[in-house]
Amino acid sequence: MTLQALTLTAAIGIAGLSVPRLGNSIPTSGPADAVTLQTPPATAETLERGKRMFTVACAPCHGTDGRGDGPIASNLQMKPRDFTRGIYLNRSTASGELPTDYDLYHTITTGLHDTPMPSFAQMRPEDRWDIVQYIKTFSPRFADSTEFPLDVLNVGIEVLPSPESFARGRALYLQMQCANCHGVNGEGNGPAAETLTDDFHNRIRPTDLTNPSDYKFARSAVDVFRIFSTGLNGTPMPSFAQSLSDTDRWHLANYVWALQNTDQYMDNQTPASFSK
Ligand code: HEC
Ligand code: HEC
Repeated sequence: MTLQALTLTAAIGIAGLSVPRLGNSIPTSGPADAVTLQTPPATAETLERGKRMFTVACAPCHGTDGRGDGPIASNLQMKPRDFTRGIYLNRSTASGELPTDYDLYHTITTGLHDTPMPSFAQMRPEDRWDIVQYIKTFSPRFADSTEFPLDVLNVGIEVLPSPESFARGRALYLQMQCANCHGVNGEGNGPAAETLTDDFHNRIRPTDLTNPSDYKFARSAVDVFRIFSTGLNGTPMPSFAQSLSDTDRWHLANYVWALQNTDQYMDNQTPASFSK
């Protein structure tokens, strides 16, 4: 497959994706696949198959040894992830922890929007699961029993979006200094925006929260809740799980989600109009 074909797959994968809202739990299903958080332990056959798939589908960018240095990598502005460090942005686990197998499966399925990382929604689910097991072998962290059990996020009781929730969310947004990076109105232009780097020494930009296509992962308010609760490991984006209650995090998630859906939720008002 060419790079363009891969990117196209990514676009289709994302457009065709709907994340169901499961109330109290993390959305556990990607597209149509029935998936669970439990995965069978890796066998030698799983790893052999995973390696074969990885070599064809992933190594061109991520490198045969998973170091992020495949032949295509030098042509990309954004570096493919080096898997040897076990640092993953997209997780349902506490800040600093490893991702669950399902988190990795989810990333492979959806891809990361607006990055070279394509969606593999068209790949057979069993092949995606084999790759999940295989990429874990690149980092010794996954074999270290002290890393487990993982602390999987509980999203509490959902608060429905409303003008009151947006106003509370707006106040929390300013109080928690999201604006320092994401800007007062969420446009990704806060005072710290120009100075940020990630743990791999690459420049990193805070997301323009008003622009749906600037989001790598979030496709629903619950995703937004998850992202600022778990933080994005390896980036300056911190976790706010300790500093805010579940309810306040729902208000904040509703507000942030409304920023990119102003016509639907905000009646076309500006974010600042929700300031008290
Ligand atoms: C065209 C290049 C390309 C291909 C092909 C590719 N990736 Fe990626 N991948 C990337 C880039 C670039 C990133 C870094 C994105 C970022 O940091 O935002 C990435 C990041 C990731 C991440 C990290 C996500 C996180 O939460 O931190 C995982 C996991 C991943 N890729 C798995 C895979 C797997 C598995 C395959 C093959 C099935 C694959 N990638 C194929 C370019 C690619
Ligand atoms: C120290 C700077 C910093 C602060 C403070 C910060 N963020 Fe972020 N945030 C980032 C960066 C950098 C990214 C982009 C990460 C990436 O692209 O890999 C990001 C990404 C995001 C995303 C997008 C995830 C996606 O789908 O791509 C959301 C949502 C978000 N932040 C919400 C918040 C909220 C809400 C707050 C305050 C409670 C906050 N952030 C505070 C730096 C920050």
